[in-house]
Amino acid sequence: MEKLKILVDRLYDTHHLEKDEYITLIENRDSIRDYVFSLSSAVREKYYGKDVYIRGLIEFTSYCKNNCYYCGIRAGNKDAKRYRLSKEQILECCETGYDLGFRTFVMQGGEDPYYTDDIICDIVGEIKTRYPDCAVTLSIGEKSEESYRRYYEAGADRYLLRHETADCEHYSKLHPAPLTAENRQKCLFNLKKIGFQTGAGFMVGSPYQTNENLADDLLFLEKLQPEMVGIGPFIPHHATPFRNMPQGTAELSIFMLALVRLILPAALLPATTALGTILPDGRELALKAGANVVMPNLSPTDVRSKYLLYDNKISTGEESAQSVKSLESRVISAGYKVVKTRGDHASFTERK
Ligand code: 5AD
Repeated sequence: MEKLKILVDRLYDTHHLEKDEYITLIENRDSIRDYVFSLSSAVREKYYGKDVYIRGLIEFTSYCKNNCYYCGIRAGNKDAKRYRLSKEQILECCETGYDLGFRTFVMQGGEDPYYTDDIICDIVGEIKTRYPDCAVTLSIGEKSEESYRRYYEAGADRYLLRHETADCEHYSKLHPAPLTAENRQKCLFNLKKIGFQTGAGFMVGSPYQTNENLADDLLFLEKLQPEMVGIGPFIPHHATPFRNMPQGTAELSIFMLALVRLILPAALLPATTALGTILPDGRELALKAGANVVMPNLSPTDVRSKYLLYDNKISTGEESAQSVKSLESRVISAGYKVVKTRGDHASFTERK
């Protein structure tokens, strides 16, 4: 126990541990969890106080050209219901969201070639023109450096692209060719270089994942220094090759989140929908362990049930943006408060 505490103290001080030390913490998490959480929530408070940022999530296309083995909207899932939102529909989501107090809009979708760079830039530009006080986040997958530059120039502020797993071999067990960990990571470094507030992240308990893989994920985050990190449990989807694989646990997901708070003290860390899906109070527990962001769903209600990355994804209760009031009271009862600002990373000031 004393030895574990010394490791955690060193992580708190230096934001770095060796791989075998991370593995030790993960393996022995039951005996050190409370101590880690006490430090991770103190660090979160030092940078962000009790503030919780909200993001309006617009899932604008359920088409995807990729075939990731875990994902419900993979191209190979012939049963998946597909939809695309028009520019007008996306702008309507923003209008609703703005009135509810959202100052960040996240455009997330499958990798859908229908939305060319011209179309994406046009939509981003229009959102920024109508809502100059808002941030736009894109989450549309792997693109060329040139495309990422165009999005940035069109006004996009942030980009989410989970690295999924840092280990090349593990990556290839989760994704068929031509997808590689190498290209994924190259994309992330490009996004950072261009100036996006960049989000990486991984699933906890994804098939074949080992504690060594998780330690490598933490080392990758040390190297990339992303502004945002999305961490949630793997949840099987019935129409994917991983339908019979075991689900990740909320317990380990929240522990990993707390370690990431110590590695990247000022990071924006969402309490993810996947966590809320497998545990009713999962997101509150995540806030207490160091998360400081929630991303309610702003998509039109009739398409929500079609954006199913995994089974039982919650979509009509308090994770929906229309219920900001009840979300706010839940956040308050967890000891925090929702703030209706852009919620940039502590090191970012608004760019011209
Ligand atoms: N379980 C949990 N998370 C998933 N994602 C995709 N499929 C699943 C699943 N079955 C996550 C991936 C992706 C993000 C948008 O959703 O990490 O990057």
